[in-house]
Amino acid sequence: MAQDPRPLVAGNWKMNGLAASVAELEAIMAGVAEKAPAADLMICPPATLISLFAKTAAGSGIAIGAQDCHAEVSGAFTGDLSAEMLKDAGASAVIVGHSERRTLHGESDEMVRAKAIAARRAGLTAILCVGETREEREANATIARIHRQLDGSLPDTLDGLVIAYEPVWAIGTGLTPTPEDVAKVHEMIRNYLISKDKSAGPAIRILYGGSVKPQNARELMAVRNVNGALVGGASLKAADFLGIAAAYA
Ligand code: PGA
Repeated sequence: MAQDPRPLVAGNWKMNGLAASVAELEAIMAGVAEKAPAADLMICPPATLISLFAKTAAGSGIAIGAQDCHAEVSGAFTGDLSAEMLKDAGASAVIVGHSERRTLHGESDEMVRAKAIAARRAGLTAILCVGETREEREANATIARIHRQLDGSLPDTLDGLVIAYEPVWAIGTGLTPTPEDVAKVHEMIRNYLISKDKSAGPAIRILYGGSVKPQNARELMAVRNVNGALVGGASLKAADFLGIAAAYA
């Protein structure tokens, strides 16, 4: 029986944070120095803060990630950032296919796949997000939806990839699926990954995301095949983020 992968607790700050927010990162670093959780930790600030955060967190064990990238290396893409640029700024990972990008920026599975390939090309870990809408869950279409998203957005090479299961209806709403529902989806994702790659599949981290808080982290993180969390709102406060990471004591 393969060992479970080491968990990852990643904070997605979304469009929040100014230079002064480095104090929050320093508070997380202080908490980790006092009592390190048995999990890898990562903060994904807005791109404007990657360089500052990467310098601040150097040597602390806290990784810095980005929230999106363009698929190309460089070119006439005003306002976009390539995976190579994010790596150059100090990121070691990038979130791709977050539901807010899929919905608000019309990103298709194909685009998400191209971004995941770009991340690998640049030497970044891609955190690839999938998740069903409320309508899909109510129509009992969750598994089929996730299956389609995996078919469309997963790159051919899986090792080093991280998957985040984030039900769209659970993001920022305070709602979460039951542990049983989370277990069903994560098991399906695990089986899918193993069917694609027998050696890499068991080691890929599958994060749960959507209204994770210190109050529910222990229960959600105890679910089989949940190898960590992607945390939005609760990652903005050091105490909450540390409280979630403490699920891995
Ligand atoms: P939330 O966001 O924790 O605020 O629900 C999660 C996410 O969007 O990654």
